[in-house]
Amino acid sequence: MNMKNKKDTSGAWWKEAIVYQIYPISFQNSNGDGTGDLRGIIDRLDYVKSLGIDVIWLNPIFKSPNDDNGYDVSDYCEIMDEFGTMSDFDELLGKAHDMGIKIILDLVINHYSDEHPWFMEARKSRDSKYYDYYHWWPAEKGTPAYRESYFDVDGNAWKYNKDTDSYYLHYFSVKQPDLNWENPELRQEIYKIMRFWFDKGVDGFRMDSISYISKDTDFPEVDRTMYPYIFDYCALNPTLHSHLQEMNREVLSKYDIMTVGEGSSVCKSEVSKFVDPDRNELQIMYHFGPSEIRNYTGPDAPSTGIEYSLLKFKQMFTEWDNAIGEGWPTIYLGNHDQPRMISRFGSDDHKYHVISAKMLTMFILTMRGTPFWYAWDEIGMSNIKFSRIEDYRDISTLNGYEHARKMRGNLKKFLENQKNTSRDNARTPFQWDASDNAGFTTGTPWIKVNPNYKKYNAMDESKDTESILNFFRKTIRLRKEHKALIYGQYILLDSKNIHTYSYLREYKNERYLISLNFTPKEAISRTGVNTENGEVVLKNYNDFKLKDIKGKITLRPFETVVIKL
Ligand code: GLC
Repeated sequence: MNMKNKKDTSGAWWKEAIVYQIYPISFQNSNGDGTGDLRGIIDRLDYVKSLGIDVIWLNPIFKSPNDDNGYDVSDYCEIMDEFGTMSDFDELLGKAHDMGIKIILDLVINHYSDEHPWFMEARKSRDSKYYDYYHWWPAEKGTPAYRESYFDVDGNAWKYNKDTDSYYLHYFSVKQPDLNWENPELRQEIYKIMRFWFDKGVDGFRMDSISYISKDTDFPEVDRTMYPYIFDYCALNPTLHSHLQEMNREVLSKYDIMTVGEGSSVCKSEVSKFVDPDRNELQIMYHFGPSEIRNYTGPDAPSTGIEYSLLKFKQMFTEWDNAIGEGWPTIYLGNHDQPRMISRFGSDDHKYHVISAKMLTMFILTMRGTPFWYAWDEIGMSNIKFSRIEDYRDISTLNGYEHARKMRGNLKKFLENQKNTSRDNARTPFQWDASDNAGFTTGTPWIKVNPNYKKYNAMDESKDTESILNFFRKTIRLRKEHKALIYGQYILLDSKNIHTYSYLREYKNERYLISLNFTPKEAISRTGVNTENGEVVLKNYNDFKLKDIKGKITLRPFETVVIKL
């Protein structure tokens, strides 16, 4: 490899930053209408600052009919009515910057809303200039080849449009038509929008569904034996990388910003193409490894209720760390599309709720890569597990239910499954305090508040030195004080252990051993590392004592420790 020409990204702020993801609709309501808003976020900036995070990622805040909670944008240069005004946004950005916090926005450019003026024109006539901004299959050619849709009730990504006698493509809901990135004019329009926000001072974008923007526009039949999951094919179009390079050349390279791609269906062998600094595409990308870890009952399942394979979990993180090559990894265990991390990888049984939340906190903040922290995991929010379909709001659950009903499927089973998998588990309002509606709103919340708010809320936890919240703050400080926890090489230890996860982080002359018990039972990690001269720098049981110094560590349920070697 020619190291001389390698682009140097060491010390880049987006590598050292901790990103705090805010789902605006559920953060803080300021006007009593039951939905979170920008003013609510402004009012809570002191709390956000107190955490020690560096960057806020806001889920979409643009004008939208809200078919998919803002991921269906109808105007990119306006703020969603429910969230406030552009001057609220400017104030938020200004105040955050004054506090030393950066803000990145969610850029949804694989699709727009069907209520966007371009689509409203496009769907009227094949002669419209905007027709070519979308993907169509003319009806005279027969039925289009199968493409799957994530949210369509029938799972079909093609929707017939009468006025043009053609089908439009929508990988997501019928109200989210996919844009045609092969059209250079469309690409320029998107770059204009990006510049609009960068010129305002926005610090970057999380790029939604970015792996799908390019399509094979002949729309051939897909060999399903090769691609049983058809989206794996959809994420592989060859023009994708030339589009990202063009975007980088024309826009991204001109600003000091952070770019993070959502890596749906991106496999390990492809990821470095997006993030190798010399390719000039994106800086980082988060993979879907954590969401693929589920439905397992083998011996290495941690017995926490929602079973997954701990061996696969460790292998997955290790392989992705490796696959990233010259790029830089990301680490997360939850977001607005996943159930709550505590219910999933820890335990929301009251006996282990706090201790397992601290253990997962330690994991995220001691791994190599930029951590993406989903707001409210720091107070221990867990799955709400609705039993009735009427309580759900998410299009994915609602249309999935409708699909099951149409197919005469087992609706009871569907609902049981949603208790552990629905995205709404992660979308219930922030639990600020023990007052009505957890201090989120004085009105009726758009989705029910988790009844456990009296026990888990920011106000009470702020006062409790032993809370998850204060442990989160402490762990952030530890990461920031020790470059090894950011840049150190990651080395997996005791890889076959079915109860614990242990690894080293090594950087220059600093060395740390991190050991975590992922199960509710006592376990021994045989790390092979002599800790005789080690110093415990962080632990989640106060009375942890280093006693097994000769290459093993005994850990109580969900116990974790960081040892400086
Ligand atoms: C991404 C978003 C998700 C949204 C989808 C469609 O996966 O994270 O919330 O529903 O894209 O835009």
